Amino acid sequence: MNNTKEFDLIIWGASGFTGRLVAEYIFQKYGVGKTINWAMGGRNQAKLEIVRAAVADETVPLVIADSQDEASLEEMVKRTKVICSTVGPYAKYGSKLVAACVNNQVDYCDLTGEAQWIRRMIDAHHDAAKANGTKIVHTCGFDSIPSDLGVFFMQKEAQKRTGKPAKSIKMRVRGLSGGLSGGTFASMENVMEEIAKDKSVYKVLTNPYSLNPEGEQSGPDKKDLQTVLYEEETKGWLAPFVMAGINTKVVRRSNALMNYAYGKDFRYDEAMMFKSRFKAIGVAMTLGIVFLGKPGSFYKKIINRFLPDPGEGPSKAEREAGFYKFHLYTTLSDDSKVLGIVTGDKDPGYGSTCKMLAESAICLAQDELSDISGVLTPSTAMSDKLLKRLEENAGLTFSIV
Ligand SMILES: NC(=O)c1ccc[n+]([C@@H]2O[C@H](COP(=O)([O-])OP(=O)(O)OC[C@H]3O[C@@H](n4cnc5c(N)ncnc54)[C@H](OP(=O)(O)O)[C@@H]3O)[C@@H](O)[C@H]2O)c1
Repeated sequence: MNNTKEFDLIIWGASGFTGRLVAEYIFQKYGVGKTINWAMGGRNQAKLEIVRAAVADETVPLVIADSQDEASLEEMVKRTKVICSTVGPYAKYGSKLVAACVNNQVDYCDLTGEAQWIRRMIDAHHDAAKANGTKIVHTCGFDSIPSDLGVFFMQKEAQKRTGKPAKSIKMRVRGLSGGLSGGTFASMENVMEEIAKDKSVYKVLTNPYSLNPEGEQSGPDKKDLQTVLYEEETKGWLAPFVMAGINTKVVRRSNALMNYAYGKDFRYDEAMMFKSRFKAIGVAMTLGIVFLGKPGSFYKKIINRFLPDPGEGPSKAEREAGFYKFHLYTTLSDDSKVLGIVTGDKDPGYGSTCKMLAESAICLAQDELSDISGVLTPSTAMSDKLLKRLEENAGLTFSIV
């Protein structure tokens, strides 16, 4: 890591809904230039100045770069140790930035949950990043830190108890309150558009192991839950969890990148869990209503009227009132059961995500991490160091019942 850089990190996309929350969190918690040298980045100076005045002050430097202008991206990344990007949809705006980071050995983290784009970044950059020591870390928000670090935490517990990895973990969402932003809907919409144009995208989204290295894309796990059913073991009604598609793939990639430290037979799945069958059906139906319909269709246009536009998202009151709670039903190697719990304060997608992303970026910039490199996952890139930061600073808890 180069220690002579002007900045530890640049938050690129600081004028957007999530980026401004990341900037606000870092400004309030760490100030400017005291323990962290950081800057707000974006494509529009005037807009950045307005946001900076609202969430920080003029001591925070501004950096201008546009996702389509490679020279501006190169110039930006050369000034910093870490790029923290909230510019999405990432599949539209993120590829050239990742390339610039790898070319200049600048570590990178983001909030993408776009599996098809992560696959492209792995194919294009994993080998080069691995060879030159760069850490590229996608999914540093609600998808997929609580899942990825939750499994990492439970597997450490399993090793402590039995000396072997756990056989399986069923992650069940037991409580969740929060909303979605326009940027997130735009990213989801973009995935649907990509599927309509290119059928291979669908394969990446539906193969449970599609983020694993080439030749290692199979295993015991099946596709994510698509229906409502009763689960005897957990005594609950299950419904599909919208983030399962990316979270489970990230957990499996973590396992593969750690030479199968969780075992080649490790099984992992995610679902929402309710005591009431009707609540489970209600959630499944709501998902169906939001995600049904072709991009650009009349149905979609009607639905989109009720969704936030880019730059919009849950209010401060909604973010403050939000929370989430995951139960990790874990079967150890001796078939005994352990229940792990992961919780987060604030709403998952923004109040909690902005803290997770900020702490990931600071962790990459300042903590002593293992020298693993390539296109990584949060747990493989930052492991215990990130876990500690999340518990101490970001309002997450990881515990065993
Ligand atoms: N994983 C999670 O848990 C999670 C949570 C929240 C968000 N997200 C993801 O984060 C991304 C951002 O969401 P959001 O709601 O914050 O979106 P948003 O409010 O629409 O913000 C998007 C940002 O990208 C910038 N941008 C757009 N085109 C650009 C370009 N050509 N060059 C440079 N910057 C450009 C925008 O700049 P201007 O202001 O100049 O337009 C803005 O700063 C989305 O992909 C979303 O899915 C993920």
